[in-house]
Amino acid sequence: MVKLASRMETLPPYLFAALDERRRAVEARGVDVISLGIGDPDMPSPPVVVETVQREAARPGNHRYPRYDGLPAFRTAVARYYLERFGVHLDADREVLTVIGSKEGLAHLIWAYVEPGDVVLAPDPSYPVYSAHAALAGGEAYHLPLSAANGFLPDLDAIPEEVLRRAKLLFINYPNNPTGAVADRPFLERAVDLCRRYGILLVSDAAYVEMTLEGESAPSILEIPGAKDVALEFYSLSKPFNMTGYRLGAAVGNPAAVAALGRVKNNTDSGQWNAIQYAGAAALEHDPQDFFSRMNALYRQRRDKLCLGLRDLGWNVPLPRATFYVWAEAPGGDDRAFAEQLLDAGVVVVPGSGYGSCGQGYVRMCLTVGEQEIDRVLERLGALSPVLFAR
Ligand code: MLT
Repeated sequence: MVKLASRMETLPPYLFAALDERRRAVEARGVDVISLGIGDPDMPSPPVVVETVQREAARPGNHRYPRYDGLPAFRTAVARYYLERFGVHLDADREVLTVIGSKEGLAHLIWAYVEPGDVVLAPDPSYPVYSAHAALAGGEAYHLPLSAANGFLPDLDAIPEEVLRRAKLLFINYPNNPTGAVADRPFLERAVDLCRRYGILLVSDAAYVEMTLEGESAPSILEIPGAKDVALEFYSLSKPFNMTGYRLGAAVGNPAAVAALGRVKNNTDSGQWNAIQYAGAAALEHDPQDFFSRMNALYRQRRDKLCLGLRDLGWNVPLPRATFYVWAEAPGGDDRAFAEQLLDAGVVVVPGSGYGSCGQGYVRMCLTVGEQEIDRVLERLGALSPVLFAR
């Protein structure tokens, strides 16, 4: 066997690939499994998206390589959308770049900036991609603990001066995966101010910015005055438009960061298929707010059913204000053991420690199953409740 590069020692199996494997093993024993695992919407994409892909797929011009910097029609639609939705002006040529889903963009951005010895500031718990690629690139992730006590917002004042001086990137992700927390403007202002003072690139993962469940509207980091000097935001079409399979998003904001990410990408991938970029433009142009409010109403209903049902069983789970994730303390305190017990009973939940050590003792449940399946989840947990939820 050829010896793997030593950097592979730092790379754990991807959280959701490992979960899929566990799920398949349990299914092979004949257990019918309901997944509250990965954040993968169960509802269809908007009809205009499907129609546009079908139409554009039939055009031979779209069977060729896309443009490296992304289709102008998509980048222009993103810029127009940012102006309408957030009041943010973007130059579609210099400040918007198509990415093949924000996961790809986030990972490649790290390669543009991080070298051995550099620090990457990443919340804990957080999306595993930030820390995995920081480590692959030879950087050091400095973790910013998120807890219920701090509203799941990192304490920026607690970062030591010498860490700030070595830091290249600060990742933030609001509305937040996995906790469902929302950031207020003063927090975003503090993050911009810190990054300006220390010359850090502020990376805003805005995958859930459209997913608020209580009628509020989550801001873009680029709404904060001066943010464009230091911030790059990743807008994703995956979750809000039920488009995870299409792989489409945009990196927007600081033009130097857009160019740097573009250079890494051009040397790595050859862009997203034009038919999908046309579909993304159509999604952004056809009354997206109406689509989002219908989806958010659906998730709110599911959230209430699941959370209130779990509370009746004796598990006091909080109601998230945003995202489609419920983040709750695992009864008994051992998130991995608890997730295994639930999997054996036919319910996938994500152990919180998969998002970092501060996620230990928590599990995440995703609201991407219908109400009938939620009833079945509650039945299954109800059957276990004397063991799991001692009142
Ligand atoms: C999640 O469920 O946290 C993510 O959506 C999974 C992913 O993007 O791989």
